[in-house]
Amino acid sequence: MTERTLIIIKPDAVQRHLVGQIISRLEGKGLKLVAAKFMQIPEKLVRQHYAAHKDKPFFAPAVKFMTSAPSLLMIWEAEGCVDMVRRMIGSTFGYEAQPGTIRGDFGCSQRYNLIHGSDSPESARDEIELFFEPDEIVDYELSDAPWLYSKRISPKK
Ligand code: PPS
Repeated sequence: MTERTLIIIKPDAVQRHLVGQIISRLEGKGLKLVAAKFMQIPEKLVRQHYAAHKDKPFFAPAVKFMTSAPSLLMIWEAEGCVDMVRRMIGSTFGYEAQPGTIRGDFGCSQRYNLIHGSDSPESARDEIELFFEPDEIVDYELSDAPWLYSKRISPKK
């Protein structure tokens, strides 16, 4: 089923000039970009976004970090993209993330972990609703979709 995921290229990645390289990985994989906005996220929205973690010790520092400078927020779309993107991002902390993943290749910090990707289709729906209005999401076709998304090629007769 076609899914959408919310991606945030976080303040550290913007400051470290990694935006292009991160987008390039998502594009190269064949995911479809359907919305984007560049903003310094207001504290109220960050608090809502991380509400599930409000009692964790990292909550206050994470809010401070995420509001400290601009981020690039995007919605990407593809069948199964939530899990696919989480695997591309890698585990939470850069120093533990596998090489080949975004965090594994570009970072070694704990708190400054470059990118957020929704952790389930349900969270993606909530997060997209938090950060985007419906009319900010663009409905269009990628001309190479049949090449990108076909699951198998029919055997020659
Ligand atoms: S959990 O608790 O299993 O849900 O944790 P996890 O999915 O790994 O992380 C949830 C979000 O909290 C951020 N996080 C942290 N930020 C700063 N410092 C520490 N120690 C820390 N631990 C977890 C983590 O990056 C996740 O946010 P996003 O925005 O998805 O990266």
